[in-house]
Amino acid sequence: MSRIFSGVQPTGNLHLGNYLGAIRNFVRLQEDYECIYCAVDMHAITVWQDPEELRGNIREVAAAYLASGVDPKKSIIFAQSNVSAHAELAWIFNCVARLGWLNRMTQFKEKAGKNRENASLGLYAYPSLMAADILAYKATHVPVGEDQKQHLELTRDIAQKFNNDYGTETFPLVEPLIFGEATRVMSLRDGSKKMSKSDPSDYSRITLTDGPDEISKKLKKARTDAEPIPEKVEDLAERPEASNLVGIYAALADMTKADVLAEYAGSQFSSFKPALTELAVEKFGPIGAEMKRLMADPGYVDSVLKDGAERARVIADPVIREVKETVGFLVS
Ligand code: TYM
Repeated sequence: MSRIFSGVQPTGNLHLGNYLGAIRNFVRLQEDYECIYCAVDMHAITVWQDPEELRGNIREVAAAYLASGVDPKKSIIFAQSNVSAHAELAWIFNCVARLGWLNRMTQFKEKAGKNRENASLGLYAYPSLMAADILAYKATHVPVGEDQKQHLELTRDIAQKFNNDYGTETFPLVEPLIFGEATRVMSLRDGSKKMSKSDPSDYSRITLTDGPDEISKKLKKARTDAEPIPEKVEDLAERPEASNLVGIYAALADMTKADVLAEYAGSQFSSFKPALTELAVEKFGPIGAEMKRLMADPGYVDSVLKDGAERARVIADPVIREVKETVGFLVS
């Protein structure tokens, strides 16, 4: 049986990349699969989070799921720290994963930066906790943006080593689900950098709660080059900013990049940007408004998270029990 698991960190500034690369796909998958979607608060604290803001940001992730169309009756929505299986399995995986594997993780290198000695141990072990998130449910498929591919390869390595070491078939080898025309949305200010929550410039990203004025201002300022829109997708290869805007348009309109080029080839970005703005406002307006409405009703959001955590525990608890027995712990 197929089961989907994915998560988003509650670190604020949820943006277009999170939506197009991940959350939108979460909504689509729930039609065909059993889906479990998490606000990964334990991952968030691998870098400093203000406690009050963190509480708000956990609710914001849940609100983004709901506002985007994740159905809390069908799918499970919960906060990671409310299900102890994640922490328990992560420790066991810390003893399975090899230092050499973690040393290769590019995201750790990027996030830790030059001052690696000062990074938290949690940031280093981040991918091991991520493997635990997925495998505590024996999930088989994981929808994510392209930047998470390496972490999912590590999840497979951990599953495989656990199964080999203990001579079992406890864990499935997960498949990443990376699909759509915007699996790696780039910064609006710099086409060589990924759009991210932590970029100091607000102009680098469109957030899910941006209104029409903000969306319009940010897209107007978005970097492009002086050339018109080309005819062929190959001609976007050396034009990262142009390629990014065309990709965003394609994803929002549910078209391919080739379709967008067929419609706009020869146009200048000065005429393409207003069309993109209109499309983004049309798609994000209702999501942002619904998120704001939900954020004003934390009682409802908390009840969704509580119900989700209870349902998540029903799936994860027997898996943890099985793993503990396999490892040789005394299970009472
Ligand atoms: P986070 O919060 O950094 O990102 C959440 C999701 O958004 C995708 N994403 C993007 N997609 C396209 N373009 C971008 N610029 C962009 N930026 C982010 C990410 O790929 C991700 O799918 N480590 C995960 C959280 C996590 C997780 C898990 C995911 C923890 N445990 C288990 C899957 C399964 C992360 O990157 O969160």
